[in-house]
Amino acid sequence: MKQAKATQLAVVLGMGLFLAACGGGGGEGVVVPPPAAPAEYAASHMPAGWWTDAAKLEEGRKLFIGETNPDVNCASCHGKDGKPVKAGARDFRNGDRMSLYSDSVWFWRIAEGVPNTKMKAWKSKLSEEDRWKIVLFERNFGLAGKGWDPEKHAWVDAASISAAGAAAAPAAAPAEAPAAAPAGK
Ligand code: HEC
Repeated sequence: MKQAKATQLAVVLGMGLFLAACGGGGGEGVVVPPPAAPAEYAASHMPAGWWTDAAKLEEGRKLFIGETNPDVNCASCHGKDGKPVKAGARDFRNGDRMSLYSDSVWFWRIAEGVPNTKMKAWKSKLSEEDRWKIVLFERNFGLAGKGWDPEKHAWVDAASISAAGAAAAPAAAPAEAPAAAPAGK
């Protein structure tokens, strides 16, 4: 009898711990890092200057909600505000989870989907540029104002990235680039 009670208590305690652990992820289970992007995608990053580009962000929003192409409606599962409307879809408002994904991982998942889930591959319907616009928009739900810095391997203030990006590719910021003679011409 005593032993049965002890076992019951252990079960109840165990469940309590389990629920507590799950609660930490905003009801989505324990937040675990995603798998690394495959080699093909590992070096793909947001085009220079886009993290702070409001026009691209707006295009990303229209794509995400199905306004640009009704066949591509991410919001039908992920919600217009990033709050999932279909079971199993990720909650993009969860910054703790989102910060574990590099921009390459987001891009890869959108391109190839997640096997054995409702998340299908979108690369036949979305150009690479459109996929990046969507990453830009999705980032806003949980990581507004941030951008992925491939060198630091972390999400940082978006403005610091576009400065670095512009320095690496002057063509992205013609207004600020002095009329230096392009090399090789
Ligand atoms: C039919 C429902 C559905 C639609 C439409 C949909 N998704 Fe998903 N998406 C899911 C589900 C379910 C998951 C969670 C998969 C899993 O378990 O990892 C997911 C996961 C994701 C992830 C995260 C993958 C990961 O590793 O956690 C990203 C990014 C994503 N979706 C982006 C998009 C984008 C962008 C679109 C529109 C082009 C889109 N989804 C359309 C259902 C959907």
